[in-house]
Amino acid sequence: MTNFWTAYIFVLTGITLLGLVALIHFTRRMPGTTDPEETTGHSFDGIEEYNKPMPKWWLSMFWISIAFGVVYLAWYGLGNYKGSGWSSTQQLADETAAHDAKYGEIFERFASIPVEELKDNQQAVRMGQQLFLNNCALCHGQTAQGYYGFPNLTDNDWLYGGSGDAIKTSLEVGRRGQMPAWKDTLGANGVTAVTEYVLQISGNDYDEEAAKNGQVIFAQMCSACHGADGKGNQGIGAPNLTDNIWLYDLPNQDLKRDIITTLNNGRAGNMPAWKDILGPEKVHLLAGYIYSLSN
Ligand code: HEC
Ligand code: HEC
Repeated sequence: MTNFWTAYIFVLTGITLLGLVALIHFTRRMPGTTDPEETTGHSFDGIEEYNKPMPKWWLSMFWISIAFGVVYLAWYGLGNYKGSGWSSTQQLADETAAHDAKYGEIFERFASIPVEELKDNQQAVRMGQQLFLNNCALCHGQTAQGYYGFPNLTDNDWLYGGSGDAIKTSLEVGRRGQMPAWKDTLGANGVTAVTEYVLQISGNDYDEEAAKNGQVIFAQMCSACHGADGKGNQGIGAPNLTDNIWLYDLPNQDLKRDIITTLNNGRAGNMPAWKDILGPEKVHLLAGYIYSLSN
């Protein structure tokens, strides 16, 4: 803490303590009488106030509290002022260092085990799960099954690949899928047609006439990213459109409507990069945990 804030706390607390002493002074029994029946002269709706001192036990507690405050302020404030050293920042740094020393060894040991083999180590999986709950569950869900726009990590269906290396790369550098918007290029009819085609290749009900036109559009506009057969391209995170697993399908909403929304507006899922936030050892352990979920 800087000297300024130490002084600030000092002055503020000092004024408060003086204020408390003043409060005791001004609320003591009014001077000049020993008559127990005398009143202060205050009268509220006919209710009068005796001129009696505070109970002794209560007053003593008050004085003891004030004395404690003075001693504590001197101990903490002066000690800190002279740089005796305690600060919450330093305490956190010390505890973090102790924690790293304790677990660093374990992390290091796991770092030498390939991602695919970590799943056989119960401790590694447990620690990976803990890291997942703390850092990833917010988006991917507690059970890693994802939600609208956040991929399911347990189904062995991958945007960017499910090998140990691919998963680790996803975590290290982050991912950002880029699906362009097609409303202006294709118009409403074009979007509907190619939607019917996507419904066809994914094994859903579809309109035959429209899907035929859609197939032509798909070959021209979509196959570069999603592949001629619609099976996707993990190099750029273009999803497989034939497996009927959807990143953008709201529960309780018509799939066709979701696909049309995707095509009209485009999509850009964003997965943050974790290497600098968590460090390479934790990322390694997390990759092992994610791999273990579907293998
Ligand atoms: C802010 C939300 C968010 C957080 C937090 C997040 N992710 Fe993601 N993650 C995403 C999104 C969105 C995608 C899909 C990116 C895309 O659409 O291109 C994704 C993709 C992935 C993928 C690639 C999936 C595939 O099919 O190839 C993996 C693996 C992954 N996340 C793991 C993790 C792990 C492990 C963590 C915790 C360290 C994490 N994510 C934290 C949003 C998040
Ligand atoms: C530049 C490459 C590219 C082109 C061209 C492209 N897409 Fe995509 N598409 C993507 C990517 C990448 C995603 C994933 C977006 C994300 O991760 O947020 C995607 C997502 C989708 C989805 C959502 C899938 C899901 O699981 O919810 C559909 C449907 C889709 N594309 C259909 C098409 C159709 C139809 C066309 C042609 C009109 C097309 N895409 C053209 C790259 C492309």
